[in-house]
Amino acid sequence: MSITAFGALRSHGAGTLRAGHADETVTIAGWVDTRRDHGGVAFLDLRDRSGIVQVVADPEASDALAAAHRVRPEWVVRVTGTVRMRPEGMRNDKLDTGDIEVAATSIEVLAEAQTPPFPVEDRIEVSEELRLTHRYVDLRRPHMAEILQLRSRATSVIRRTMEEHGFLDVETPILTKATPEGARDFLVPSRLQPGESYALPQSPQLFKQLLMVAGVERYYQIARCFRDENLRADRQPEFTQLDVELSFGDQEDVIGITEQVLAAVWRATLGVEVETPFQRLTYASAMERFGSDKPDLRIEGLELATLDEVFADTEVGVFKGVLGDGGSVVALALPGGGEMTRREFDELVEWAKRRGAKGLAWGVVEADGGLRSPLSKFMSEAEIAGVLSSTGAGPGDAVFFGAGETTFARELMGALRGHLAAERDLIGDGFAFCWVVDAPMFEPVVDRGEAVGTTGWTPVHHPFTAPTPKWIDRFEESPGEALSNAYDVVCNGYELGGGSIRIHDRDVQARVFRFLGISDEVAEERFGFLLRGLAHGAPPHGGIALGLDRLVMLLADANNIRDVIAFPKTQSGACLLTDAPAAYDPVALRDVGLRLLPEATRD
Ligand code: AMO
Ligand code: AMP
Repeated sequence: MSITAFGALRSHGAGTLRAGHADETVTIAGWVDTRRDHGGVAFLDLRDRSGIVQVVADPEASDALAAAHRVRPEWVVRVTGTVRMRPEGMRNDKLDTGDIEVAATSIEVLAEAQTPPFPVEDRIEVSEELRLTHRYVDLRRPHMAEILQLRSRATSVIRRTMEEHGFLDVETPILTKATPEGARDFLVPSRLQPGESYALPQSPQLFKQLLMVAGVERYYQIARCFRDENLRADRQPEFTQLDVELSFGDQEDVIGITEQVLAAVWRATLGVEVETPFQRLTYASAMERFGSDKPDLRIEGLELATLDEVFADTEVGVFKGVLGDGGSVVALALPGGGEMTRREFDELVEWAKRRGAKGLAWGVVEADGGLRSPLSKFMSEAEIAGVLSSTGAGPGDAVFFGAGETTFARELMGALRGHLAAERDLIGDGFAFCWVVDAPMFEPVVDRGEAVGTTGWTPVHHPFTAPTPKWIDRFEESPGEALSNAYDVVCNGYELGGGSIRIHDRDVQARVFRFLGISDEVAEERFGFLLRGLAHGAPPHGGIALGLDRLVMLLADANNIRDVIAFPKTQSGACLLTDAPAAYDPVALRDVGLRLLPEATRD
């Protein structure tokens, strides 16, 4: 049996026709993109996945002309006709098919269509709500259709590359037990065991580790993950990871295969040669220099400076107070920023306050090397000299100072770096990849949804991440300093993926649980299957997961994750197309042994 390229109903793709097809009889089918009816002659732009071609119906084929009069945008039609060159002067070099047209001998209506809720074209001004409600129309828009194709090309290259390197595609369960990745779980009540529930996986983490125990050695999966967390422009409750794990390797193996995959994807989809190996930064230096654990390295030249020593004996009140409390003064020089108006500076101060800062101090370097600033009368000459040498600021530049708790001040100034770069067009083109390595194992608990531990510390990655060898025997002693054998891959300020070498020693894993305040009983109940697996001959192993949606966002230059997912959810987790989530069916509820609380008692 032969399989036709375009389906049995047609001979060619609309967008594939060229001058070389002139005089051929072709059959094409697709949607009526636009119709221009001049009475005696009608033009249809016919669109299918491959592109658009102009169809002409004239009185010589009267049935075709009658059909052309009748059709409306988005009707589905099948056209048979002859390809002919367009008259000189009528060629359209904006269309790949712009040199030719199809002179219709017959036009058959395959399906009528209601007037579309919005025009099928890239430049439309419609609410996202309408687009998502009629996603099947939205996805016809050329840009959206291109993103779907881009995503498919990316997954295909990913699979090819992983398989070339001996990775095995293994599926892991969706109905399973909680995997802690820092979010809440989605629960699925069980009918066969009323009163009990499955959790949807936040990631395949524990299963991929058990696959290493099982001897799979090299695993990958394009895996769906589910996390009940507050949504943002780069987060969905349901998203996809390229999930990877390997045995008998180290950080270099995981980094190496990840770089290969990314380079192959960028080459195959964008024709871009990504330079490998990627730059590596330690977590500490990323925070110190860029105020972020996912720095945007397209921004050149803007680096933070920590001025704690410069201001050690200062008379500047705000700095003195903050340094006395063990905080930091973090500065950022903006080349040419001296031209900013007072009002612009005031707006930046307000911007900082909106982010929770108490204020933002600033100064302008004058021609003689002095600093013009509301605070300069309190600054000594030595301090001003220290500011200039640490920040690299020179005459005409502005310097900003954020003082506060060290991490807060760094993150504030890191955000200011991004804000100024965006406002002043200082973000370079292309893709700037880097690895951020040597992250701490633990951080103090803040509200991140579910806290894994109860001791005031929570894992920066997840509790299966190995400490670096230096810390294996003593991470409990200085939990704030202990480093993990983890690595994040970052591109243009996005965390594209993260992974680690895992704990493969059952006793070390049990110590991490204990340190986090997870009792042996709770550990047994939640992770007993992992601990038992680790006791049955676990090879040293590690891996990574890349956010596939975020990867496609970068490739497509999209700034919203919903644009790269065929059927995404809104900020409030709703699917406008299907109207999910929907009210409980009372019978289904009874089947799983559940009863709803009265509405008033829910919070
Ligand atoms: P992590 O939680 O860092 O690691 O997730 C890996 C990558 O998945 C993407 N990602 C998301 N994308 C869209 N929406 C979300 N809600 C979302 N959450 C995460 C990000 C992130 O970098 N099991 C570990 C990996 C490992 O250790 O191997 C894990 O899931 O791009
Ligand atoms: P104040 O002492 O609050 O009047 O602030 C004096 C100057 O210092 C103002 O320009 C404030 O914006 C700035 N400022 C206040 N708090 C901070 C801070 N934590 N970091 C940086 N600048 C600050």
